[in-house]
Amino acid sequence: MQEFLHHLRTIQFALSFVCFSVDTVLSSIHSEVPGMGWFILPDFITLSLSGYYIITVGKQWNKNTANSDVALNIFLIILWIIYGSSKAYTFSKLIVVSGATGAQGGSVVNSLLATGHYKIRGLTRKPDSDKAKALKSKGVEVFKCDLSNKDEVKEALKGADIAWIVTNFWDPSIVGQDVNEEVRQGKMIADVAKEEGVNWLFYSSLPNTTTESGGKYSEILHFAGKNNVEQYIRKLGIPNVTFNYLGFYSQNFGGSVPTKQKENGEIEIVFPYLEEDDKIPMIDVESDTGPIVAKIIEEGPEKWNGKKVPVAAEYATLKSIAESFTKATGKTHKIKTAHNDEEVAKEFPPSFNNEEFKQMYKWFKEFGYYGKDTEVNDLSVAKKLHPNIKTFEKYVLEHYGKA
Ligand SMILES: NC(=O)c1ccc[n+]([C@@H]2O[C@H](COP(=O)([O-])OP(=O)(O)OC[C@H]3O[C@@H](n4cnc5c(N)ncnc54)[C@H](OP(=O)(O)O)[C@@H]3O)[C@@H](O)[C@H]2O)c1
Repeated sequence: MQEFLHHLRTIQFALSFVCFSVDTVLSSIHSEVPGMGWFILPDFITLSLSGYYIITVGKQWNKNTANSDVALNIFLIILWIIYGSSKAYTFSKLIVVSGATGAQGGSVVNSLLATGHYKIRGLTRKPDSDKAKALKSKGVEVFKCDLSNKDEVKEALKGADIAWIVTNFWDPSIVGQDVNEEVRQGKMIADVAKEEGVNWLFYSSLPNTTTESGGKYSEILHFAGKNNVEQYIRKLGIPNVTFNYLGFYSQNFGGSVPTKQKENGEIEIVFPYLEEDDKIPMIDVESDTGPIVAKIIEEGPEKWNGKKVPVAAEYATLKSIAESFTKATGKTHKIKTAHNDEEVAKEFPPSFNNEEFKQMYKWFKEFGYYGKDTEVNDLSVAKKLHPNIKTFEKYVLEHYGKA
């Protein structure tokens, strides 16, 4: 019996040591921040256990300590069960993320990586691009998948526990060719998720501007289309579904929101129809999407099944947006409103001077960015999930601040 217990403990020690070493290597492959969070708890237990064991065995080597040996071995076995199940949980979940080389998906990938808890498969059409290579070097399984191709989507979702999906209306293959393609793509991906037994499907949605406006704003397809996909997903019978509602990207300034330098040195930020007191929900999409999604996943599907989750830090007035730019750059910024279609045509290039775009701002003005839905408008949900979510002022200071 003595000898048996002695061998058992020796084996346990050896296993502890091997597992701890393998685990440390895996952590550094899978995460930019190795061993962060609860993830290190089992490592810590194993390491302490190994140390304790060495000392105990050293002391008791030639003594008759049968009872304490039995107790020690039971203790070791219980810890091993906790350790083993914790490790199995840690490395068993596969999360597939679409748009992994883009703003939303890229942020989700980074935050999931930082937990060190999951296997991540990032989808892209161009696995040889620099962005895809960078993901690969961080430990992401980069997977070639065109979201318009059902066979490729099927391969991509094989074995996934969770899929986090964003579709890109502005991709030339959609906005430039067939504006209904985003809805077709979204529904097809959802069908495949169901067929492949995905347990939790996330979709990056937006409000149904057509139905909520009673048909008045029926051409904001990049909003309404996503909501059509959401409604389809809700009826499919996938065990768990959650919808992220992204706010207005802080990154839009200088892009879809033009700025113009006047002769007197002031800078105008031009918005169609919106005025200084109008508010929009702002988000630094690159840094703050992922932490919200990662926290939802950590809290589990029981809490979040069926929920719409805003991904926005705050409602900022346009006036405060201009003030943030002034403060960060030292140059006076002012809001300029293009009040009617003629003024919009004068201020914006043809790619933005269209009904999709103009109706979107009319919708913001009349219904608010997120419409009247109280669930999506409750930005405290985002703040609770991600307490360090960035205000617009902080974003501007970081990105435009004087050196
Ligand atoms: N701008 C805003 O304020 C705002 C607010 C809310 C929602 N949105 C929505 O955000 C969506 C865009 O998301 P984002 O900003 O994260 O995109 P992004 O940064 O422009 O990147 C686009 C991503 O989508 C991927 N992609 C596009 N078409 C694909 C296809 N057919 N198959 C596979 N991957 C494809 C690209 O991957 P590869 O090129 O590597 O294949 C890339 O990763 C749009 O639908 C837009 O309506 C925007």
